[in-house]
Amino acid sequence: MEFSHNEYGEQFADVYDEWYEDLDDIDSVVRFVVNLADSQPVLELGVGTGRLAVPLSQHLPVSGVDNSPSMVARLLARPNVDPRLTVSVGHMVRDMPRGPFAVVLIAYNTLFNLLSADEQRVCLAEAERRLLVGGHVIIDAFVPDDSLGDTPNESTQTKRGNQLVESRAWVDTTKQLMGGSFVDELGNDRSWQVRYASPTEIDEMAHAAGLVLESRFSSYAHDPFTEASSRHISVYGRAF
Ligand SMILES: C[S@@+](CC[C@H](N)C(=O)[O-])C[C@H]1O[C@@H](n2cnc3c(N)ncnc32)[C@H](O)[C@@H]1O
Repeated sequence: MEFSHNEYGEQFADVYDEWYEDLDDIDSVVRFVVNLADSQPVLELGVGTGRLAVPLSQHLPVSGVDNSPSMVARLLARPNVDPRLTVSVGHMVRDMPRGPFAVVLIAYNTLFNLLSADEQRVCLAEAERRLLVGGHVIIDAFVPDDSLGDTPNESTQTKRGNQLVESRAWVDTTKQLMGGSFVDELGNDRSWQVRYASPTEIDEMAHAAGLVLESRFSSYAHDPFTEASSRHISVYGRAF
């Protein structure tokens, strides 16, 4: 199944903030990024509705890019969007803002929205090229585990915001692709697709892009990353 490049954002923009409002403690994310950026500009790839970029821009200059006009419209409609936040509609790799930046943030599985290893690798290389001296790339993603291949392709009911939605997922472990759909109470069907990668594979891609792992946590509150962690927040710096 072909998944067009801005389909995710266009389908989820209207429910994104409601469905994912509890995803993170936003203050922890802001502290984590601000601490690394040291008052210098930050770039968020796949900035979405500004869940992170808007609060971050209260502290430092932030640029964001997203290929979904509907996501960006939601961001711009937020109250009190700080003038230090600059947003463009475009592809996060091909139209990546020039910078330079102290931090390039790729949050909440957004690297996996690029549906091939090549595209993910190029993304990291382009991010590396935009770093200020001493800058960092932050990747926040789920850890795929061995049980992924056993994902049953059957519908389950899940709570999303105030709604009970029918959720279905599929996994192709040979291509490292997974996807699914959510059908809400009104019958709206929203689908998603990602190309997942393990932390080890991301480290290898980062290495090929001239980046080296500096630290890895299981949360923005600096909880330690262990073999049991289901999510990683990884910080990379320039290899040289
Ligand atoms: C999972 S959401 C994350 C949004 C935001 N970073 C957050 O943490 O709330 C992924 C975002 O990436 C955007 N996106 C997906 N593929 C993209 C691409 N190729 N170029 C630019 N943006 C993309 C989607 O429109 C969506 O807003």
